[in-house]
Amino acid sequence: MMEFIGTANPGFAPYAMDELRRRFPALTVSGLAPGETFRFAAGGRPERELIAELRRDEPVFLRHLFPIEAEAGLDGGPDAVADAMIRFAASCANRVRGKTVAVQVRKSQDSPFPFGSAEGRDLMVPALTEAGAGIAPRGTDLILSVYASKKTLYMGLSAPEDNLSDWPGGAVRFRRDDGLISRAAFKLLEAEQAFGLPLSRFTNALDLGAAPGGWTSVLLERGLKVTAVDPAEMADSLKGHPRLRHLRRNAAEVDFAPGSFDLLVCDMSWDPYHTCRIVSNLAPALSAGASALITLKLMHRKPLQTISALKAEYGKAFEIVRIKQLFHNREEVTMWVRRKA
Ligand SMILES: C[S@@+](CC[C@H](N)C(=O)[O-])C[C@H]1O[C@@H](n2cnc3c(N)ncnc32)[C@H](O)[C@@H]1O
Repeated sequence: MMEFIGTANPGFAPYAMDELRRRFPALTVSGLAPGETFRFAAGGRPERELIAELRRDEPVFLRHLFPIEAEAGLDGGPDAVADAMIRFAASCANRVRGKTVAVQVRKSQDSPFPFGSAEGRDLMVPALTEAGAGIAPRGTDLILSVYASKKTLYMGLSAPEDNLSDWPGGAVRFRRDDGLISRAAFKLLEAEQAFGLPLSRFTNALDLGAAPGGWTSVLLERGLKVTAVDPAEMADSLKGHPRLRHLRRNAAEVDFAPGSFDLLVCDMSWDPYHTCRIVSNLAPALSAGASALITLKLMHRKPLQTISALKAEYGKAFEIVRIKQLFHNREEVTMWVRRKA
C-alpha cells in the first residue's frame, strides 16, 4: 500500500490529518515533525484515486505531499545515507529518461541528516543525468523529493501537480523586493499563483483593511484602480498614486454604488464573523461574478468548525471557489469567492 509524506504549516498538521481522515475514513497517519509533517496511508484506496481526489478538491491544510517509494535509516553515517540517496536516484532511471527533474531535499529540525539541501541534491544529480534527465530547479516534468525526519530518510518521484505544490514542502518563496511595503503582500502574490487567478484580469478593486498597503501596491502594479479602506495610514510611497483612492474609514461604514468593483480583497485584522458581515453587506457593490479574496483569521479554537460556519455565511452572497492555508498564512486561511449573479 502506497504511503505519503504530508506537510502543513507549523501547528496545523493535526487539522490536515483531521481533514484527510474525514475524507478517507480508513486512513492511517503518524506524526514525524510535530505539528508540521506526517506520513499517511489511504487504507486500501488506490494511489491514483487518492491523488485525483485531493487534486479535484484540495484540502485546506495539507500543503504538500509526495509518495514514499524508498526509506533508509539515518544512523549509518554520511556514507550510508549518501549511498541510499544515490541508489534511489539510479532506480528512477527508466522513469526520468528524456524528462526534466527537480531534486528537492529538506529535513526536520531534529534530523541528523548530514547534508545541506544543495549538497543532498548534488549527490543525486549525476545518477539522474546519466539516465538522460535534464535537471532544473522548478517547472519540471517530475520532482524527486527527499525528506529526512529524526530517524528516517524518505524518497519519492512524482509529478509536481500530484504534490499539490511544486515548491519543496510547499514552502513558496518570493524574491524579497527592497521596496516591499509589507510582508502581507506575499499572501496576495501566493494566492494569485496558487489559485491561478491573474490579478491583471481585473479593473476596479476594493481593498478592505488595506494599510500599510502591501496588497494595494500589488494591485496597482497589476494596473488596477484601487479603493483602499482603512482608518490607518497608507505607506508614503503610495500617497498621491493616480489610481489609488484611500478612504480613512471603518469598512463597516462605507457604501458604494452597485457594481462598482470587479475585485474585492480583504485582509482585515478582525474577528472573521464580523469581517464576513462587512464583506457580505458590501456584496452589492461588486459586479455579478466579481471575485473576492479574503483572509479568514482563525482566532477561534476550532479551525475546521470556524471554516465550515464561515462557508455557510459567505455562501449566502457568494459562491465559494477555494479555501487554502497558504504558506504565507499564519493563523489564518485564504478564501476565494465569486459574487453570485
Ligand atoms: C494585517 S493589516 C493589513 C495589511 C495589508 N493587507 C497590507 O498588505 O499591507 C490589517 C489592517 O486591517 C485594518 N482594519 C481592522 N479593522 C478594520 C475595519 N473595521 N475597517 C477597516 N480596516 C480595518 C487595520 O487598521 C490594519 O491596517
